[in-house]
This record gives sequence, structure tokens and C-alpha cells, in this order.
Amino acid sequence: MAFTTLIFVIASCVVTLLAFCGNAQLSRNFYATTCSNLRTIVRNATQQAVTKEPRMAASLLRMHFHDCFVNGCDASILLDDTTTVQGEKNALPNKDSVRGYEVIDDIKAQVEAACNATVSCADILSLAARDGVVLLGGPSWTVEFGRRDATTANLTGANTDLPSPFSDLATLISMFQAKGLTAQDMTALSGAHTIGLAHCSLFRSRIYNDSNINSRFAATRQASCPPDQGNGDTNLAPLDVQTSEQPFDNLYYQNLLTQRGLLHSDQVLFNNGSQDALVLSYSTDNSTFFRDFSAAMVKLSKISPLTGTEREIRRNCRVVN
Ligand code: HEM
Ligand SMILES: *[C@@H]1O[C@H](CO)[C@@H](O)[C@H](O)[C@H]1NC(C)=O
Ligand SMILES: *[C@@H]1O[C@H](CO)[C@@H](O)[C@H](O)[C@H]1NC(C)=O
Ligand SMILES: *[C@@H]1O[C@H](CO)[C@@H](O)[C@H](O)[C@H]1NC(C)=O
Ligand SMILES: *[C@@H]1O[C@H](CO)[C@@H](O)[C@H](O)[C@H]1NC(C)=O
Ligand SMILES: *[C@@H]1O[C@H](CO)[C@@H](O)[C@H](O)[C@H]1NC(C)=O
Ligand SMILES: *[C@@H]1O[C@H](CO)[C@@H](O)[C@H](O)[C@H]1NC(C)=O
Repeated sequence: MAFTTLIFVIASCVVTLLAFCGNAQLSRNFYATTCSNLRTIVRNATQQAVTKEPRMAASLLRMHFHDCFVNGCDASILLDDTTTVQGEKNALPNKDSVRGYEVIDDIKAQVEAACNATVSCADILSLAARDGVVLLGGPSWTVEFGRRDATTANLTGANTDLPSPFSDLATLISMFQAKGLTAQDMTALSGAHTIGLAHCSLFRSRIYNDSNINSRFAATRQASCPPDQGNGDTNLAPLDVQTSEQPFDNLYYQNLLTQRGLLHSDQVLFNNGSQDALVLSYSTDNSTFFRDFSAAMVKLSKISPLTGTEREIRRNCRVVN
């Protein structure tokens, strides 16, 4: 092959690769020259928030999940309702439940002060979610950057695409599959329920009406969650009965083995079904859990990002520019 032909072949491969990856691909060093302090700023601000209230790590992690499952990881969850935008904050799975918006505002303000109009809200949320897990003793994973922010939200999508605590196993698997995540990813990601709290209204039927529940555990939870609808609905209980606040560990899976999952959707992962073996292995080996959780978080955080010059870098995460 002539030298010039070889060069041409190599050049067209590079061009093809760029065309292929340049758009849809996120990268580690996306802000290397434009906001080199990003990681430090976000880590510090997340640490302050989590030190003040450890649960904030759980809340930010869940917020990232609820962002990514609705039109991709595009910070659509952060948009407030305005006359022109109908946000997702009042969707059933989010209303009076997703929290931590002020923490993202605070981080964004600090990032804007250092790197004006450069870093997307979607990237900030992804990074803060990771930092929160690490701060509570959980695994770390590489966060890649380059997501852009949506200029619209999808209330309908938030109501239809986020899993419900009353779901059965087949429904959970198919809802994750619809986002490109496997049953294993779903089971590993559910381990996020090793931290954080849930409302009585969302586990009432579980503690009064499910059969696969430890009776002492049910009695304990019933003490602060009365049976009648509308009564004590907003009372909170830890998702992980053993070490709820922290650390981020694998005891969530050990709870499932003793039928002490708080949500119906937790216990279906260990109920003589397809995920039993995986739950068993995560319960005995935190390194396997950490490895699979991290890999699944990387996948979750890359669901349909906006990239390149799509949409915008929002200046204030709550409103479009
Ligand atoms: C498998 C399907 C899932 C269902 C049905 C589900 C459902 C729920 C429900 C009902 C709550 C309590 C909300 C409240 O009472 O206000 C909750 C909390 C939480 N979820 Fe999930 N979840 C699922 C998967 C996930 C995933 C994939 C993650 C993250 C990777 C996650 C992270 C969390 C965290 C950290 C909390 C506690 C939030 C806090 O204390 O502020 N969940 N989830
Ligand atoms: C760390 O975060 C806190 C709270 O957000 C902020 O007040 C402080 O200025 C930050 N410090 C640095 C060095 O960025
Ligand atoms: C920040 O960037 C915006 C948009 O590029 C620009 O209009 C504004 O003047 C900048 N502000 C500062 C303080 O540099
Ligand atoms: C909103 O989400 C639903 C469910 O995923 C989807 O079918 C629909 O296309 C989305 N709408 C917009 C405008 O993105
Ligand atoms: C339990 O199930 C029964 C029968 O379906 C229903 O009448 C009752 O309201 C349920 N109780 C709770 C607390 O979910
Ligand atoms: C993982 O499990 C081992 C053995 O049970 C335990 O000694 C270790 O502290 C655990 N590590 C974490 C980070 O939970
Ligand atoms: C699972 O199957 C075993 C053996 O068939 C049975 O004893 C047990 O009650 C079942 N557990 C559940 C939660 O269905």
C-alpha cells in the first residue's frame, strides 16, 4: 500500500471514530481546561452538605436516578414549574419526596463563580451523586462529563417511566430494560436503598398486607405507620433496618434474606425469583456488590445524554436560560 493511501486510511478511520464518538460520547477530561477545579468544588460542597445531614447523600443519589430515567440525564428534574415549562417536580414519584434541590443550587452557584457558563447542571448532579456515595463509605466510579441541559421537562415521562414501590419483579426488570439496564443492574442499583428513608404511605401495604415479611420487623414498622390511609402518611422509616444513615454497605441484601426489605419492590428481589442468587451473592460479598453497583451507576449516568451543542448549559439549574 502506498504511504499516502495508508495515511488516508488512518485519517478516515480517525474521522469515522470522531463522528461516531464525538457526539454521543462523554469524557473524563471534558472540563480539563475550561473548569479544572470542578471536582474539588463539587466534592467540597457535597461534603459540607453531607456532613450537615448524612441523608443528603441518599437524596442526591436518588435525584440523579430520577433525572436519568426521564428523557435521559439532562437535569430536567431540576426545572421549576413556570408559565412556559411544566417541570417534573410534581410528578407522583417526585412530589414531596425528591429533595436536595437547594444543595444543587449551592454547588451550581460555586461552579458558576469559578467557571462561568461552562458546566452543565446534569454533570454537576452526576458528580455530586457519586461524591455522596463515596462520602458514606460506598464505592467510587469514574464520572465522565459533557452532558448538556434540557430546555424542557417531561411530567408524563416522570409519571410513567419511574418504578413504583408497589411494582412486581417482572415490571421492575422491564422498566430498567427500557432504559438499557439489565436485571442485574437493577438488582445492584437497588442496593442504593442501604441509605435513606421512605414514607409510610409507600410501605404501608407492605407492612400490613405482604406475606413474605418478618413479623417482628413488620410490627416495629407498624408502630410508626398506622394502617389507615391518610394517617401518618409522611412518617419516615429507614430503607435499611440495620445501618440506614451510613455506611453505604451490603446490609440491604442481608435484610432481604431475613425478609426485612422495607418496600414491596425491595423484597421482590428475594422472593424465590430470578434475582435470588444475585441477592445472596451481594449479601455475602460487598466487593461484588460494589463492583456491580459502580458499573451500573456508570451505565445509569450515561442514559441518553444531550451532548455537543445540543440545548444549553443552564446558568441557573431551576430555569432555562
Ligand atoms: C428498583 C426500583 C426502585 C424503586 C421502586 C424505588 C422506590 C423508592 C421509594 C418509594 C423511595 C422512598 C421515597 C419516599 O418515601 O419519599 C426510595 C428512596 C430512595 N431510593 Fe429508590 N427505588 C428504586 C431504585 C432506586 C435506584 C436505582 C436508586 C439509585 C441508584 C435509588 C435510590 C434511592 C435512595 C438513595 C432513596 C432514599 C432517598 C432519601 O432518603 O432522600 N432507588 N426509592
Ligand atoms: C466549600 O463549600 C462550602 C459550602 O458550600 C462553601 O461555603 C465554601 O466556600 C467551600 N470552600 C471552598 C474552599 O470551596
Ligand atoms: C458569563 O457568561 C455569560 C455568557 O457567556 C456572559 O453574558 C456574562 O457576562 C459572563 N459573566 C461574567 C461575570 O463573566
Ligand atoms: C416523555 O416521556 C415519554 C415516556 O418515556 C415519551 O414517550 C415521550 O416521548 C416523552 N416526551 C417528550 C416530549 O420528550
Ligand atoms: C390490606 O388488604 C385488604 C384486602 O385487600 C384491604 O382491604 C386493606 O385496605 C389493605 N390494608 C392496607 C394497610 O394496605
Ligand atoms: C466488606 O465485608 C467485609 C467482610 O464482611 C468487612 O470486613 C468489611 O468491613 C466490609 N467493607 C465495607 C466497605 O463494607
Ligand atoms: C420459597 O420456596 C420455599 C421452598 O419451596 C418455601 O418454603 C418458601 O416459603 C418460599 N418463600 C417465599 C417467600 O415464597
